[in-house]
Amino acid sequence: MQYNISEFNELLKNRRSVGTAQYTGEKIDDSIVRQILENANLAPTHRLTEPWRFKVFVGKGLEKLFAKMAEIYQVHTAPEKFSQEKYDKFFEQHHKVSHVIAICMHRDTQNRVPEIEEICAVACAVQNIYLSVTAYDLAGYWSTGGGTFTQEMKSFLGLAAQDQCLGFFYLGCKAKDYPSTRRSSIEDKTEWIHE
Ligand SMILES: Cc1cc2nc3c(=O)[nH]c(=O)nc-3n(C[C@H](O)[C@H](O)[C@H](O)COP(=O)(O)O)c2cc1C
Repeated sequence: MQYNISEFNELLKNRRSVGTAQYTGEKIDDSIVRQILENANLAPTHRLTEPWRFKVFVGKGLEKLFAKMAEIYQVHTAPEKFSQEKYDKFFEQHHKVSHVIAICMHRDTQNRVPEIEEICAVACAVQNIYLSVTAYDLAGYWSTGGGTFTQEMKSFLGLAAQDQCLGFFYLGCKAKDYPSTRRSSIEDKTEWIHE
């Protein structure tokens, strides 16, 4: 199979994390979200445990999710640190966001691979989501806010004790194009060992 490598490199460079404040409020067709999840499902997975699990919140489901996030924020924030503005923002988000995908890790019941490998596999699935979102010219990002690692969120999502919520992928329509992402040199992060 021949691929256009320069287009692929461009796609990688144009992948961005775009926050909800910058979404137009337009809704994405469920069929596109399904295709994005089909792409996530192709991530590498040691011993084929396929540990990624997704819960898609849309429509009234979004309101339910954001209300839970607000509640968790309130419960976990000391009164002197509590911000009414931040609390209220949870309830406003559904006007901007199209879908939210809860990113979960399902621990293999036979523990065939270490847990960290399962988390890595889920992260690979999330990268497939990121790249698919870029290819569809949509906006999105992986958030570990909203009470991601709390027991309350775990219960809300109906996860088993050994499973984990790893965050939320927010999805929406973007209002404009963003500059390519930037990183410091890969040379500083790579060591080549020749002998
Ligand atoms: C595991 C993980 C968790 C993240 N959590 C958040 C988050 O809670 N809030 C947020 O604004 N961005 C979050 N991000 C997105 C990063 O902020 C973003 O990747 C970074 O700013 C670089 O921007 P770029 O993705 O557009 O290149 C997360 C990214 C990863 C990989």
